[in-house]
Amino acid sequence: MATLDPHHLPNRSRSESWYDRACASIAGGLGHDVRHAAPFPLYIERAEGAYKWDADGNRYIDYLVGNGAILLGHSHPAILEAVREAAPAGVHFGNDHPLQVEWAESIQRLVPCAERVRFVNSGSEATGLACRIARACTGRSKIVRFTGHFHGWLDELVAGFVPPFDVSPTTGRAPGAGEGVVMIPDNDLDLLERTLAEDDDIAGVILEGSGASWATVLLEPGYLAGVRELTRRYGVLMIVDEVITGFRWAPGGAQERAGIVADLSTHAKIIAGGMPGGAVCGREEIMEVMRITGDREHDRFERVLHYGTFNAAPLSAAAGRACLEIAADGGPQRRADTMAERLRAGLDQVLEERGVAGYVYGESSAFHIYLRGPGAEPVADRAALRTSDPAALKGMPGDLVAALQAGFRSRGMELMSYNGGMTSAAHAEGDIDETVAAFDEVVGELLDEGRVAVLA
Ligand SMILES: Cc1ncc(COP(=O)(O)O)c(C=O)c1O
Repeated sequence: MATLDPHHLPNRSRSESWYDRACASIAGGLGHDVRHAAPFPLYIERAEGAYKWDADGNRYIDYLVGNGAILLGHSHPAILEAVREAAPAGVHFGNDHPLQVEWAESIQRLVPCAERVRFVNSGSEATGLACRIARACTGRSKIVRFTGHFHGWLDELVAGFVPPFDVSPTTGRAPGAGEGVVMIPDNDLDLLERTLAEDDDIAGVILEGSGASWATVLLEPGYLAGVRELTRRYGVLMIVDEVITGFRWAPGGAQERAGIVADLSTHAKIIAGGMPGGAVCGREEIMEVMRITGDREHDRFERVLHYGTFNAAPLSAAAGRACLEIAADGGPQRRADTMAERLRAGLDQVLEERGVAGYVYGESSAFHIYLRGPGAEPVADRAALRTSDPAALKGMPGDLVAALQAGFRSRGMELMSYNGGMTSAAHAEGDIDETVAAFDEVVGELLDEGRVAVLA
């Protein structure tokens, strides 16, 4: 059975015909670039707990978890109930409303730096607004970012998350869009210190609290604390991008896990309980740059402008508040982390037993499978493969990634984009063990077909 060939996935004819229709109505045929899958993506009709079902009725154990937005499991009854309760009052007013204040208060209780919260609609909007606030507050113009870290798709920060990191991953950026962004490698505090010491025009340092792309490239222990110390010493704002890590790495996100308080943090996904929404959180004194005073000159020219029709939309507020209430005691995060730990160990054991040149790693509820293609330089010891090079960890051969994805899909599991995924609190031991057994078969096929490097 050629389960690694995405063109031979049986029983996906309805997804295929939805894709035909999508290609005639939706630009590029897709809603998001990473949903691309050759020869067509899956069309999902329903999701519950740890599972989702496609248009052909195939069930998947889901490790995409709504691009990381689902912590409690799909269709959690408390979130559905909150949305059901809020909807009849009106889905959108264009006004502020009480639920929004309660939502902000529940964020304040959890996020260490959230003396004030400002709502936006997505993670990309959150990082964009945070950079604007940092520049406005310090009167400086540049933002330091780290190679491989992802901060959304908008012009200023889009470059640098996929290899080759020094090439813009998109055409059509506004002229000069990335000019104020200084990119340096992470895990090097001396380099960061030199960068901050040599340039007095740096407003902020932004980084993913997990390391690049939900711990694809791990941060060294103590690195976040080191960045906190240096940014404070040089009077530069530390912006922790918690779009993934917020409420997942801990109720207080990566900040809580690392024992730090950022100046600003950016949020989306879990914050809105799986509905569209996001926020910038920050210290009161910094967030003051958004205040309207009634003074015409100040209000037009000396403050941060921020619009957004759907900011803090009522249904997102309802879902977010309900989700954060449940996530506040850390129980769902512990459960998801335990499942991910079991999964990482099980998957890694498969590679060990089969002598494959690869390893499985991650942090919190995330897992990543790093494999090398057959042309890679031989190594005898799996430990020698361990790397923190973002070009290697984010540069697995495309056909190997596609085969891995197809192998899992044909066995009823879906990974997140690329080579890993995340667990939710709804995943159970049985799901994990089923996934490990499937991986053993996938690796067997990869070996039979000579698609993956083995140990020397
Ligand atoms: C760390 C991080 N920042 C920002 C974003 C952008 O968020 P959105 O897709 O909501 O614009 C993402 C999205 O995955 C992310 O992972």
